Amino acid sequence: MCGIVGAIGNLDYKTYLTSGLKKLDYRGYDSAGLAFWNKGKISLYRAVGSVENLASIVPDGHAGTAGIAHTRWATHGGVTVENAHPQRSWDKKVYLVHNGVIDNYKELKEWLSGMGCQFRSDTDTEVIASVIAYFLQEGETPLDAIRKAMEKLDGSYALAILFTGQEGLYFAKNKSPLVLGRGDTRINCLASDYAPILDYCSNFAALDDGTYGYMTENSIVAYRNGKNLALRFASKDKEDYVYDLAGYPHFMMKEIHEGAHVVRKNVETYFDREKKVYLFDPQLLASLKAADEVVFLGCGSSHYSSEAAAAYFNRHGLRATSYIASEWIHGVYPHLKNPYYVLISQSGETADLISCLDMMEKGTKTLGIVNAKDSTIARRSGHVLYIGAGLEVAVASTKSFLGQMALMMLLCGAVNGDTSVPDSLLEAAKAVDDVVGRRADIDAIAEGIVEVHDAFFVGRGMDFFAGEESSLKLKEISYVHSESYPGGELKHGPIALIEEGTPVFAFVGNPEISKQIRSNVEELKARGAVAYIVSSESCAKEGDAFVYRYVEGDFAPYPEVAFGQLLSYYLSLRRGLNVDKPRNLAKSVTVN
Ligand code: G6P
Repeated sequence: MCGIVGAIGNLDYKTYLTSGLKKLDYRGYDSAGLAFWNKGKISLYRAVGSVENLASIVPDGHAGTAGIAHTRWATHGGVTVENAHPQRSWDKKVYLVHNGVIDNYKELKEWLSGMGCQFRSDTDTEVIASVIAYFLQEGETPLDAIRKAMEKLDGSYALAILFTGQEGLYFAKNKSPLVLGRGDTRINCLASDYAPILDYCSNFAALDDGTYGYMTENSIVAYRNGKNLALRFASKDKEDYVYDLAGYPHFMMKEIHEGAHVVRKNVETYFDREKKVYLFDPQLLASLKAADEVVFLGCGSSHYSSEAAAAYFNRHGLRATSYIASEWIHGVYPHLKNPYYVLISQSGETADLISCLDMMEKGTKTLGIVNAKDSTIARRSGHVLYIGAGLEVAVASTKSFLGQMALMMLLCGAVNGDTSVPDSLLEAAKAVDDVVGRRADIDAIAEGIVEVHDAFFVGRGMDFFAGEESSLKLKEISYVHSESYPGGELKHGPIALIEEGTPVFAFVGNPEISKQIRSNVEELKARGAVAYIVSSESCAKEGDAFVYRYVEGDFAPYPEVAFGQLLSYYLSLRRGLNVDKPRNLAKSVTVN
């Protein structure tokens, strides 16, 4: 969590830094801050809340030849101006912004306090600034002070650092992402991801752990373990980072509209429709086929998409399981002889997933299914496949979820030699478009439940996974307590929670199991639940709340999840909430 951006050279820093922070606020938006370096002096501005709050206190046309900025997702210390970044050392010699968590900051704080060092904030970040300042006072150069501080720090960090009286923008990286950009016109930049620096630079390099160094307007110098490092710079495709509402009121609505397109794009990318052949690397397919189990790892929505994928793999004769990444690391899994691990992540930076990679022995077979190009998981996985959803800005994942499911189902089809999957996906994409086109009907349903405190989603088979994802969306952006259960499971306990008027959304997408789920709905109605049945044309009945265009049962989650996304969107809107930036959340979770 937290986003950092910085640059050195001739720039309008207020514009560069604040617009950069906006592109990074998916990483957190508790507070924002920036610092300008000008002729050896550093000026600091910080504000609680949005980047707009920060922009309102920064004078226009501020002179500066370097700058750093930060958007925060609070970990250590409450949401206050004092805890906002940039943080500075007690002697005001070192100013820095930080993404990550320092595990041993308490010990370091005690050590420095023992030497009379005073702290103004509750953050672990201020401690980093002061450790660097300590080594400066010991006579080290800025670069050596950073190197020595890195030896003392346990934890994760991406740092951008300015020194009072010393030219240069310094950086250091361990576990948290940091990318550098080289401009054409005496500008060099850095940021947590490529989006803020794309318009200013032409070549980019993602840093590996343990790297530190500095940039001037003409050069970038990097080191690891005291040795000079040759960074590999490459250009980037701007299309992957388009940050534009394109006339939509919110990014979430725009991204819901793009869901079907992302499904189609995956079909186009991974299947040649004329020749009727899959375009995956045959070696990858052979390894997946030879594995004794395909193990999907993910968090949040990416976990739910992989649960659906694992079920789909199983239904088609392939052994697969899906685990929550933060649990898998605790060993709650069988030890397999020849597993194939598939790591699913929109951002490619989720710390819990990176911890899984850290735990795997060398030579373990891994595939990253990722949206963000060149992200950590993409770089560290043995093999990578991109879902090509383009930049997803809203914190709640929407189009990426559909893209992930599509890609995993295509993979299953390819392993099995089943060439019917792409056509089924194209039908599913049509059904998604159809749901989106009828969004006013879903808004009307949302209107009827604006005041509720609890909601339930039920489904059986593949429909259950659509319920899980929809329930997560409802929690995330409308703050309605929501549970998702397989239809048959409610009566084993949760039915005790059903009260007069409790809304229950039942997904009915498969004629083979439609009878059972409908009888579960009757059990719930008998206890006072208000049931909203969302059904496929193939199993619709009079009185159903929403009937979607026919798709095969296995593909029902596509239109059903689109329904859940829109329901959550409208409920959030009608409750007056921040759709794109829900409270307490961040899109890229880079702490464990
Ligand atoms: C956060 C986001 C979720 C997302 C999850 C996994 O919790 O708020 O929307 O599903 O991280 O993120 P990833 O980038 O790994 O898919």
